[in-house]
Amino acid sequence: MDVKDIDTPALVVDLDAMERNLAGMARFARERGLRLRPHAKMHKSAEIARLQIAAGAVGVCVQKTAEAETLAAGGVDDILVTNEVVAPLKLARLATLAQQLAGRGGRLGVAVDSAHGVAALAAAMAGVAASIDVYVEIDVGHGRCGAAPGEAALALARQVGAHAPLHLAGLQAYHGRAQHQRTPAERAASIAAAAQAAAHTRDLIEAAGFGPLCITGAGSGTFTLEAASGVWHELQVGSYLFMDADYAANEADPQAPVFEHALFVKAQVISRQADRAICDAGHKSHAIDTGLPRVAWPEGLAFANGGDEHGVLRAAQPGVRLPAIGDTVWLIPGHCDPTVNLHDELLGVRGGLHAGRVERRIRVDARGALT
Ligand SMILES: Cc1ncc(COP(=O)(O)O)c(C=O)c1O
Repeated sequence: MDVKDIDTPALVVDLDAMERNLAGMARFARERGLRLRPHAKMHKSAEIARLQIAAGAVGVCVQKTAEAETLAAGGVDDILVTNEVVAPLKLARLATLAQQLAGRGGRLGVAVDSAHGVAALAAAMAGVAASIDVYVEIDVGHGRCGAAPGEAALALARQVGAHAPLHLAGLQAYHGRAQHQRTPAERAASIAAAAQAAAHTRDLIEAAGFGPLCITGAGSGTFTLEAASGVWHELQVGSYLFMDADYAANEADPQAPVFEHALFVKAQVISRQADRAICDAGHKSHAIDTGLPRVAWPEGLAFANGGDEHGVLRAAQPGVRLPAIGDTVWLIPGHCDPTVNLHDELLGVRGGLHAGRVERRIRVDARGALT
C-alpha cells in the first residue's frame, strides 16, 4: 500500500528513521562497553524488542507484569521489570514467568524498594526451580519509587541476599525528572548528584560482601551523562527509538547521537473554515499529557486541541496557507509511550512519509497490558 492510501487517523513509523535511531543507540552503548536494555514500555511490541536485541541489546525493560508476559510470549527471553510488584497474584505470575524464561536460557528481573516487597517476592519464588534477578531501586532524585540511597538500600540488599531464589543483581537508579530538564546544565547537575548517590550505595553494599552490582538506569534525555559517569553499567533508554515533541523541546546535548522523529500520526483535513482547518486526529489518536502534537507537515501550522476526535490547525505565522479539505497532515505526538498505547498497530513505512510504501504492520502486542 502507498502511504497516500493509509486511512486516517493512523499511527505510522518511519522505518528508515527508526532503524537509524536503533543503530545509533546500539553503537553508542557498544563503543562504551555498556549494556543496552531498551525500555519496551514505549513501543510495547515484541517485533521491535527483537530488533533491538538483534542490534545488540542484552534484553529489554518493561514496567508491568503483563508487558513482561506479552513480550515473553513474543520470543523475548531477557526481561527486567523496572517497577515494584507487590500483589501476590502478580508475583505468582512473575514466578511462573521466571521459570519459563530460565527454561529457555533467559532471565527475568524485577525492582524492589521495600521490605514488604522483598518478603512478598521471596514468598512467591519459594519452591520455584529458577532464580529471579533483583534490583534494589534507589531514589536518585525522581521522587517516585525507590528506597533512600545508603543504609536503607543496604538493608534491602541484605534481605534479598537472605533468600536463595532471589539473586541480588544490582541497583536501579533512574532519574525520570531529569530527562526533560530543558538545558544540558540542569541535566548534568541532576545526574551528577544521582551518580554520587548510586556510587555511595554500591560501595556500601559491595563492602558488605555482595555483588559486584550492575547499576541500571538512564533515559533518552540523560544517557550520555550516565554513560560518562562510569557508575552505570546498563542503559534503559526508551524514547530514543521514536522521539516525541517533548524530547524535541530539550536543548540538545552535543555529546548525544542525533535521534530523529520516527513516530507520526497521519491525519486528514475534514473541514476548512476561514481561519482554520480541522483534522481528524484528537486525543484519542495521540496522548496530550506532555502537550499537544507538533505539525510536521505542512509546515507553518500550529495545532490546537479540538477534543477527542479533532485537531484545529491555524497558521503559526502570517502568510502560511491553510491545507484544504482532504489534505494529509503529519503530526509528531507530544509523548510517544501513551500514544502508542492508543493504537492496535503501527504502520511501518519505507521510503519516507510522502512517497513511501507500507512495508509492514507492527502489532502493539502489549497495548493495554496494565496489570
Ligand atoms: C524506569 C525507567 N527507565 C527508563 C525509562 C526510559 O526513559 P525514556 O523513554 O525517556 O528514554 C523510563 C521511562 O519512563 C523509566 O520509567
